[in-house]
Amino acid sequence: MYSAITTSLENGILLITINRPDKMNALNKTVFEELNAAIDEVYNNREIKSAIITGAGAKAFVAGADISEFLGLKHSEGMDLAHKGQYIFKKIEDAPKPVIAAVNGFALGGGCELAMACHFRIASDNARFGQPEVNLGLIPGYGGTQRLTQLIGKGRAIELLITGNMLDAATALQYGLVNYVVPQEELLTKARSILELVNTKAPLAVGRCIQAANAVFDHTKDGFTEEVKLFGECFATHDMKEGTNAFLEKRKPNFTGK
Ligand code: COA
Repeated sequence: MYSAITTSLENGILLITINRPDKMNALNKTVFEELNAAIDEVYNNREIKSAIITGAGAKAFVAGADISEFLGLKHSEGMDLAHKGQYIFKKIEDAPKPVIAAVNGFALGGGCELAMACHFRIASDNARFGQPEVNLGLIPGYGGTQRLTQLIGKGRAIELLITGNMLDAATALQYGLVNYVVPQEELLTKARSILELVNTKAPLAVGRCIQAANAVFDHTKDGFTEEVKLFGECFATHDMKEGTNAFLEKRKPNFTGK
């Protein structure tokens, strides 16, 4: 049903693969539309507990927005493009279920921004990260200036933004941009093993952890107040009763997401 991405669901994990390997998986209009639909699936399909985003082939995660679609755009059309990209990436960031990036090669421009919108990142040892927009007379428009600064700090972010340089996987790990670096053939296994563990936890609590952590960067919210609210809400869930009872009865909890 999709043409520029593929999806497959296994053990509650939706694997979303950006599938334009001959164009380094660049984000064109179709990829954006289909990615948006796949993220809606993550929100709405109860069988999906978490998701992985990766790129097809061995070279690229996503080498950016499709540059061929930029030519001839006017000021207002540039803004529309940024609004659209930011909307979809914020939807990923706000997802009530974990969405992680398995970065299998170049994550440049919009690709780096996509990886940064995910809840965390795992990289293969050939991964490269960068925001090379200055080479095109552009700046990142899908949240990159903000999330890069949040993730690696202002000095390192500005250096990367204004030089357009790429980070190798080892440096990305050192900067805290990725949580793990693994050989490429182990990338999806590593991502799946983490999510299989997460999928055994109480789903509503998992979602609220993400929501509370996101509140740190939301200027309309006080994160501590948000935490109080979300903590309180957990007491109204069946899974909180199940989890605490299971602990006291020395048995494994059976979470239902209610
Ligand atoms: N948009 C559109 N097409 C892209 C693309 C992008 N962001 N990135 C790569 N491609 C296309 C190339 O045009 C090429 O297409 P062709 O075979 O029809 O000529 C194909 O993907 C392969 O890329 P190529 O440049 O030949 O591969 P490479 O191994 O020499 O270099 C990169 C790989 C990723 C370093 C290089 O493609 C690159 O710099 N891409 C652009 C990165 C960028 O500026 N991203 C920010 C966009 S805002």
